[in-house]
Amino acid sequence: MNPMNRRHFLAGTAALSATPLIARAKTEVAAPVPVNPLVKQRADAQVFRHEDGFYYMTGSVPEYDRLVLRRSKTLAGLSTAEERVLWRHEKTGPMSGFLWAPELHQINGKWIMYFAAGPSGGGEDVFRIRTYAVVCDGPDPMTGKWTVLGQFQAPWDSFNLDSTSFVHRGKRYFAWAQREPGIETNSNLYIAPLESPLKLASKATRLTIPTLDWEIRGYKVAEAPAVLHRNGRLFMTYSASATDARYCLGLLTADENADIMDPNAWVKSPQPVFTTCRETSVYGPGHNSFTVDEKGRDVLVYHGRDYEAIQGDPLFNPDRHTRVQRLYYKADGTPDFGVPVGNGPLPERFASAADPKAMLAHDGLRLIAGNPSLPATQFRQTAGRAGPQSVMLSPILLPDHYLVAARDGSVILARDDRSTDFAMRSQFVRFTDDRSGTVRFVSIAAAGKALAVVKNAIRLAGSRDATARWIAD
Ligand code: AHR
Repeated sequence: MNPMNRRHFLAGTAALSATPLIARAKTEVAAPVPVNPLVKQRADAQVFRHEDGFYYMTGSVPEYDRLVLRRSKTLAGLSTAEERVLWRHEKTGPMSGFLWAPELHQINGKWIMYFAAGPSGGGEDVFRIRTYAVVCDGPDPMTGKWTVLGQFQAPWDSFNLDSTSFVHRGKRYFAWAQREPGIETNSNLYIAPLESPLKLASKATRLTIPTLDWEIRGYKVAEAPAVLHRNGRLFMTYSASATDARYCLGLLTADENADIMDPNAWVKSPQPVFTTCRETSVYGPGHNSFTVDEKGRDVLVYHGRDYEAIQGDPLFNPDRHTRVQRLYYKADGTPDFGVPVGNGPLPERFASAADPKAMLAHDGLRLIAGNPSLPATQFRQTAGRAGPQSVMLSPILLPDHYLVAARDGSVILARDDRSTDFAMRSQFVRFTDDRSGTVRFVSIAAAGKALAVVKNAIRLAGSRDATARWIAD
């Protein structure tokens, strides 16, 4: 790439700010884009969008000594939302130690927060973890008074945690993790309908025991169930193995019309569906929940660290940060979890408006028009260097590479070599066409040219060409 001298670069940016090009760069009035990590040092996060239009978020704090809640009008706003302490562990007794993995649910009009707790007596006794609930005395969980409702009446008096609740075909269910006497695992998954917030309506069904190699790394664990009802099926994710970089998500799937109390109705995916990703530097992703973004699109919520090596017990490492990302679906309607997308603004996918099967993608260092895999089609947009409207695009799997408009009209992936040429050729302006809803990325270096699919390759084309229009998702 021939270096462009500084004078041309400055002239280019000066001209840029004067031309109507910038004036026409329509800024979509959209919700702010969440930036990962969404909330630092909050593990086991539950995020949901309530009927009041607010997002609510709770999760484990590193000290494990209090139950917290935050609320925001936008998903991104959870990052900076005020966090309220609803309840603190007691001075003595069975709830005076660790408080783990709270979940907030509105049941029969009452706000109830389930959580796991243990005593503070020291030694092994601190892991005498059982499930409890606190209840709010009013309609606003952020301002009401919270008091202990009681202890979950589990099938056995043994280690139990990570409870969740959901309604299916008009019936409310409880799913949780528990150690079952006679089974040599840390925890298995169970389900049963609820008669009342802390009492099961029938004998529990055991859904899964950790037996696969990726479920028993460090500890034999199946915990943190979360349920998503989509495309005629119930998808129950769960977390497996030790809480270090080996932590990952598994998936159970049941037909929505099946008897979900029949363990045979649930099919376990033989492989984990969401694991550590070194390319994006997210380690030990897990303990997830599900929500939707402001456009109603499914979002996966989970925690993960941005480094692998942990000193000491991972349980007492504070850096399991809350993260979110879009959840997409395969052609068969099953969720495609892809990989944890890494730190920074949420990425998007760009399908050619001229041929939606041709997505902006890459195969290694080569940009392609195709759909090789979800992660290879996810690109992160970051602020550019040629004025307030300029942006740069980077594939999530190659976060140190950027799209660059080459002199010959091709578009390549390149690292930032700190040259003026790179600084100019890696800059685009994003335009949104209100009528079609499509977007264009107009090159700042190549006047009148934009990112396009040309003869099934990613090249520059006339910025008004149909091939230069993309459907962002
Ligand atoms: O984060 C505390 C506990 O660690 C959570 O309840 C569980 O999911 C994880 O193993």
